[in-house]
Amino acid sequence: ATVTVKAEAGKKISDHLIGIFFEDINYAADGGLYAELIQNRDFEYAPADRGNDRNWNSTHSWALADAGSATLNIETFSPLHPNNPHYAVLEVRSAPGAGLVNSGFDGIAVKEGARYDFSLFGKVLEGKGGKVVVKLLDTNGAVIGQSSVTISSKDWKQQKSVVTATADVPVASLAIYPQVAGKYALDMVSLFPQETFKGRKNGLRADLAQTLADLHPRFIRFPGGCVAHGDGVDNIYGWKGSIGPLESRKPLRNLWGYHQTRGLGYFEYFQYCEDIEAEPLPVLAAGVPCQNSGTCAHHSTDELTCMGQQGGIPMEEMDKYIQDVLDLIEYANGDARRTKWGKMRAEAGHPKPFNLKFIGIGNEDMITDVFEERFTLIYNAVREKHPEITVIGTVGPFYEGTDYEEGWELATHLGVPMVDEHYYVEPGWLIHNQDYYDRYDRNKPKVYLGEYASHVSGRHNNIETALTEALYLTSVERNGDVVSMTSYAPLLAKEGHTQWNPDLIYFNNTEVKPTVSYYVQQMYGQHSGSEYLPSVVSLDNQPDAVRKRVGVSVVKDKARGDYIVKLVNLLPVKVASRIRLEGVSLVDPSATKTLLTGEPQSKDAKPVTSPFEIGGEEFSYEMPPYSFTVIRIGQG
Ligand code: AHR
Repeated sequence: ATVTVKAEAGKKISDHLIGIFFEDINYAADGGLYAELIQNRDFEYAPADRGNDRNWNSTHSWALADAGSATLNIETFSPLHPNNPHYAVLEVRSAPGAGLVNSGFDGIAVKEGARYDFSLFGKVLEGKGGKVVVKLLDTNGAVIGQSSVTISSKDWKQQKSVVTATADVPVASLAIYPQVAGKYALDMVSLFPQETFKGRKNGLRADLAQTLADLHPRFIRFPGGCVAHGDGVDNIYGWKGSIGPLESRKPLRNLWGYHQTRGLGYFEYFQYCEDIEAEPLPVLAAGVPCQNSGTCAHHSTDELTCMGQQGGIPMEEMDKYIQDVLDLIEYANGDARRTKWGKMRAEAGHPKPFNLKFIGIGNEDMITDVFEERFTLIYNAVREKHPEITVIGTVGPFYEGTDYEEGWELATHLGVPMVDEHYYVEPGWLIHNQDYYDRYDRNKPKVYLGEYASHVSGRHNNIETALTEALYLTSVERNGDVVSMTSYAPLLAKEGHTQWNPDLIYFNNTEVKPTVSYYVQQMYGQHSGSEYLPSVVSLDNQPDAVRKRVGVSVVKDKARGDYIVKLVNLLPVKVASRIRLEGVSLVDPSATKTLLTGEPQSKDAKPVTSPFEIGGEEFSYEMPPYSFTVIRIGQG
């Protein structure tokens, strides 16, 4: 192949092209990115979280130690906070010995020498109260860490201590043993590693958060997906319930069949974005739940069934809802002394604004009258009060053959600056639709490709699917003037709790397993540019089927002055290529080459970076079969 790059014809492209989409699906938050180790710490699990499963209740993950000498009841008589109505009442008839044990999320993984912050809210209901011993136990019941607190107050009081683990144990449990017989009320029982990402209190699991940071994402979309708009009006995420002291946050049923404590809430999302220098992109419901219905069941990637009556937030309640949206902008950006919500942000520990620039309204909603009416009201209100914020609308759900017509019409009519498109497709779709955005009208709203992935139903991401994503992204960079942002399918999936495939990163309590698609995203994220340099690729009269399997994109990173050449070869044979950088005069011809390659079915391939001497503005490179290469010519 000959690749002739026309540097003089370069065009500016978005500098937010590669981001990430975080949704609390597949146990991505509780039991995942959020570092809390106690499951059901708030005793708020309810059968309704999980299709009326009676075993999924306030005692889930809790058990009695020495059950003959103690009783556990769940009460709501005098809670710690109205948003957190259930608490445990532990009656200990014979002490010491009886207690309460939590089994964590598939166990509690602890590391020798690591320190863990233990805390609980407790009060004495009967008796004098006294010392409560806290123990980390291994699977044989041996103690691998111990500490104590005192519960002696008749009113709710938080108690804290630190437990140091004395062994590496991947499946430990935590036990609480009152040393004095009596009746105790307990709530918000927490065990938190001191080692979190950047040492943040109430922070994120360090290895997972670092893996995300390594993608160098320019933005994070959160908290969903479907979680953002919920599967009924009462399941809409409601950002205000996710901030403030943990005990006052409003837990929420997760439509993916579990419970959200919302310990990872809006403050923590904003903080993490700041920590990794990614723009926050919160997505709020457009006043309607999933597909505007009361019932919406996701069975698999291929089947989305939404039924029930169409409906949204009643029109008479829309003013209040719109105010919530405006309040979010004030919470993120408002003055810490002069605004109510800015003050709340400051009280949470962040006086400086978070500098919010984008807000998503709606997620894959059907563009019905119910949607249009509510979206228009919200959009107009935000545009009027906060013209500085870029609102991202939605063009609806994608099914094979959809053209998103109604969504585009509405967005164009209202002048929405950007719209969110989603598509989960077969690898062939990405190969055959590389001209998808070439055809987009540059006078219409810009595009945020908020969810996409190449997948073959039932199969894990592999080199073949990942390379089709890499190939398609060459066309996205080419269209980086109309596509402003992209983010892959769900980010995180916990092994054993995966409701959705494909995902970018799989994990368990001790390991993080990035997929090959992750490495494609990383190679784009770490090597993005601000200017696209068009190139002509000639493949010696090869048929269309061959030409479509080779992709090239050349960008310039203006800040560093580097030229970046991306080459994708989806053919089973190597492709010898000659690359000519016309109109470029290199100060320094040294480069690095990052290569991701493997058999099409490989799931374990990883990119390898090595020095690469190009010698000048014209150089040769042989693309291996099934490969994605990034050649970065450093000028900085
Ligand atoms: O990513 C999983 C789901 O796919 C998201 O919640 C939704 O936006 C889409 O249907």
